[in-house]
Amino acid sequence: MNKAKRKTVIAGNWKMNKTPVEAAQLIYDINQRISNIETKGCEIVACVPFVDIDAAVKAADGTRIKIGAENCHWAKSGAFTGEISADMLKACGVEYVIIGHSERRQYFGETDLTVNQRLHAALEAGLTVILCVGELLEQREQGITEEIVSMQTKIALLNVTEEQMKNVVIAYEPVWAIGTGKTATSEQADEVCGIIRNVLAKLYSKKTAEATSILYGGSMNAKNAKELLSMENVDGGLIGGASLKAEDFSIIIEAAQ
Ligand code: 13P
Repeated sequence: MNKAKRKTVIAGNWKMNKTPVEAAQLIYDINQRISNIETKGCEIVACVPFVDIDAAVKAADGTRIKIGAENCHWAKSGAFTGEISADMLKACGVEYVIIGHSERRQYFGETDLTVNQRLHAALEAGLTVILCVGELLEQREQGITEEIVSMQTKIALLNVTEEQMKNVVIAYEPVWAIGTGKTATSEQADEVCGIIRNVLAKLYSKKTAEATSILYGGSMNAKNAKELLSMENVDGGLIGGASLKAEDFSIIIEAAQ
């Protein structure tokens, strides 16, 4: 299977930005801008803060934009003050959820094991997971990017079946490229996305490795998207800052066609 047969995914990660009113407006603006763009075979996703979900789902109704969340808890319910379960997200009309973002790993004690637990909860609830992996700058400089990204991928996917992999998208996000304006070169992005694909081939099969969409994230913007998205192993983007601007996000969507 070649790249053309894989699903292209252009997903925004809004992080901790936008009130519900602003969220509805941004979804409306993005939809206006993409109305003339052919997006067949491309999933367009906006991953929004929990409190924006209701407004975003309503604003996206009848459009090509799907709504995602930025995290979920691993338990179905219970005494976890302040947390949100995957079932709750599903019931609110959410289709995608980001799991294991480096900001959760860096600031909120997320580990590879909790990433695995959350991923199982999300899949069991019927959500599509965007699993994030990526190395720190020191790790790249030490030459251990392949080991780090392979380990993160393997632990996150522990006990995930080949059938369940149909609902998993992986995002390679080098931590040094997030919010820094420093983008990985298209060759670096392609190389690591290729490494992840090889891990999937070993864990599952060549078929699953070739069918799984692997995205790049880290300072992707309206200017660099086309080149990054043209690479053989890069099947889309997970976009932070540029996803908050309807114009830039729609240019990236167009670049993916
Ligand atoms: P930026 O696009 O702002 O670098 O963020 C990338 C990211 O973290 C997406 O999840």
